[in-house]
Order: sequence, then structure tokens, then C-alpha cells
Amino acid sequence: MYTVHSISSLSGSIQVPGDKSISHRAVMFGSIAKGITEINGFLNGEDCLHTIKVFQQLGVNIERTGETSYKVNGKGLYSLKEPQDVLYVGNSGTTIRLTAGILSGQPFYSVLTGDSSIIRRPMKRVIEPLSMMGAKIDGKENGRFAPLTIRGGHLQGITYESPVASAQVKSAILLAGLYADGKTTVIEPYRSRDHSERLLAQFGAKLEVQDDRVTIFPKPDLEAQLVQIPGDFSSAAYFIAAALIVPNSRIEIKNVGMNETRIGFLEVVKKMNGKVEITDIRSFGQEPVANLIIETSSLTGIEISGEMIPRLIDELPLLAVLATQAEGLTKVTDAKELRVKETDRIKTISVALRNVGVEIEELVDGFVIKGKQKIYGGQISTEGDHRIGMAMAIAGLIAETPIIIHQSEAIHVSYPQFFVDLNRLIK
Ligand code: S3P
Repeated sequence: MYTVHSISSLSGSIQVPGDKSISHRAVMFGSIAKGITEINGFLNGEDCLHTIKVFQQLGVNIERTGETSYKVNGKGLYSLKEPQDVLYVGNSGTTIRLTAGILSGQPFYSVLTGDSSIIRRPMKRVIEPLSMMGAKIDGKENGRFAPLTIRGGHLQGITYESPVASAQVKSAILLAGLYADGKTTVIEPYRSRDHSERLLAQFGAKLEVQDDRVTIFPKPDLEAQLVQIPGDFSSAAYFIAAALIVPNSRIEIKNVGMNETRIGFLEVVKKMNGKVEITDIRSFGQEPVANLIIETSSLTGIEISGEMIPRLIDELPLLAVLATQAEGLTKVTDAKELRVKETDRIKTISVALRNVGVEIEELVDGFVIKGKQKIYGGQISTEGDHRIGMAMAIAGLIAETPIIIHQSEAIHVSYPQFFVDLNRLIK
């Protein structure tokens, strides 16, 4: 449990921890590359630590060399060993889906499972294409859910039109494509985050990217790399929102990942009249990075749908909080994917906001929020969803009475130091 009180201003400078999506991928790609991959700026959140454990169980030597540094001693695409026991991914959708792609290329038996949220999340979206490639892969309820059993081996390349814009699905297929005969192409309805494409290219994979489609060509091996991980934009987003809505605020966030497939929230905030200055743009490997300066702003409501949704999918619960403070209506549609995240996020954020006195209209694929609402405060539960916990903590900074967050430990999944960093900005 954690109690958040209202505050009068935010100021100072912080650095958010490493990007979650890239941290997972650095460990995975390093594990199947040849040589020693050095990772700096790794996110020591529960999700990414599960990825490390899973690949250690698959026989990879992974060593912590500093606070956020690791060495992964990869021995090549075909070096993984049959695990002695079930592979447990905790709460991490990225771990289970991407690892399923890699295991589809391995000539052994493995079982992937996770916590009570993971075993309810849709897995047919990866089982279907991986089976088409030739993997023997199954799951509970006719392949709908984890636990997943995988017996991989010889794969054929496919062209797959994914019904959802999902980087986890796309990446699982591309990783299996490394083990396939011939090329593998994934086509998406809208472009999802492209960290896999960028990092695989850095590791020497041969890829072609064209608007909504990515093709990977098999290669005998990937080469180990030095990977410098940028700060996670999705973690930075909580402080961006906080500085926009808490009066008299001005903060700086350093080394934030600025990959255009991830920063839809920044574009939306700017359209809402948010004052955000981007400085010192540079790159960490294949990923752009910048510093951000954010000031208290008078926000206006906005309508969001279509191709924007995958670019800010993880920030939508937070946007709901922001929308309560904007002038006019905010409407989000085409975001049905929110219903199959760590929780049904349309429902969980609606329940949490109503508990603290905010009116929100739930849509099948989004929500509508009237602006300029008072947040009264009260008790909420994260329902085990880290992003609901952090979004509601930001609401607590401007609530009339404290917001008491139950199951706040869920936040450790992606940002164990969240409250430490938040308290640093409170003067
Ligand atoms: C992620 C992709 C997104 C995102 C998740 C991380 C990734 O999920 O919501 O937090 O690392 O590839 P989907 O691919 O299911 O949209």
C-alpha cells in the first residue's frame, strides 16, 4: 500500500531507468548471438529480471557486472539447452511471447508460464503464426492461453498478416524467422514499436523494413554487441504528466528514449497545449535519445484513434488522468488492445478514477472523459497492474484528499524506484 498526498510544485532533474522493451531484447538477442554482449542501462524491474532467469535456465551465462550492467555470454543461435523445469515469466507478456518465438526454432521441449495475469492473456496471436512456420506449440483451452508447450525445430519462412498491431507478435515471428528456411515477412495493420528491428540490425541480422511490413532473412549467426539502453519513455511519461498538471512546476528528465514508434504520448501532449521542450537530441546505438523540460500547462482535450494508438498504448491510462485536467472533452477509440494488457485497462482505470470521484465513460474500445474535473481522492487498487498504480499516483498529486493505492508493489514490474524518483522532484 502507498499513500500519495497532494503537493504544491515539482522541480529538479531526474533520469528514469532503462527502457523495458529494449532491456528484454538486449538479453534475448545477446543470448542467441555469438560472443559477449555488454548491456549498460538495463532495467532491473521484475519483468526484465524474469527474462534473465529464463535465459539462464536455457543454459546462457548471464552475469551482473554493475548496478545496471550485465554481460551475456552468447554461444550462437543453436546453443540453447533444454530447460530442466518450466520457464516462469512472472507478469511479462514480452518475455513469454518473444521467448516463444526463439523456442520455436529449438529442437527441444519447453514449457512457458507466468502469473495469474499472464495465464489469462491471449496467446493464439503467437501460437497461430509460429505453428504455420512449423513449430509444435500448444496452450490451455485449445491454444488460447499459457501455459504454452513448445517443441521447436525446423521452420519455414512465412508471410503473415497480423490482425493486431503488436510488437510482441511481430517480434516473436521475426525471431522464429532467424531459424527458418527462406524469408519471413510480418505485415501489421499499423506500425508497432520497432525496437526489435533496430536491435536485430545492430546484432547483424538482415532485415528489410517497408511502411507496415518487415522482412527478416535467415543468417548463420548474430554478433555480440555493446548495448547502451536509453531511459524508458513510458516511465518518463508519468513525470511529464505530473509536471503538466501540478501547479508551478518545471522539471527536466534526462536521457529519454525518443523512438518515434514510442512517443505518441509526447505528440498528443503537445497537441493538448503541453509545454515540453526537447533538448540535446543524440543516439544510443540505433535509438534516438533526448532530454526533456516540462512546465505546468493549461491543457485542452483531444480525440485519439487509429495509427496513434500503438504509439501510446501503454500511456493511455495516464492520458485518462491528464484528460481530467484539460479544458473540454477527451475521447480515445480503436484501443481495444487495452482490454488484454496486464489487466483490462479500460475497466481498471475507469474503476480507479471513479473511486477517487472522477466521471469516465467506458467505450468498448476506449473511453471519454470530460475535462476540468476535481479529483477527490480515496482508495484504489492497481489490481496487480503497474501502469494503473503509477497513473493513479500522479492523480494523487493534485487530489483534494490523499489517494491510497493498494497492491502498489505491482509497480516493481517496470519501475521499482518510482516513488523514490517522484519524491526527489517534490520540494
Ligand atoms: C511491448 C509491446 C506492447 C506493449 C508492452 C511492451 C514490447 O505490447 O504494450 O508493454 O516490448 O514489445 P503489444 O505488442 O502486445 O502491443
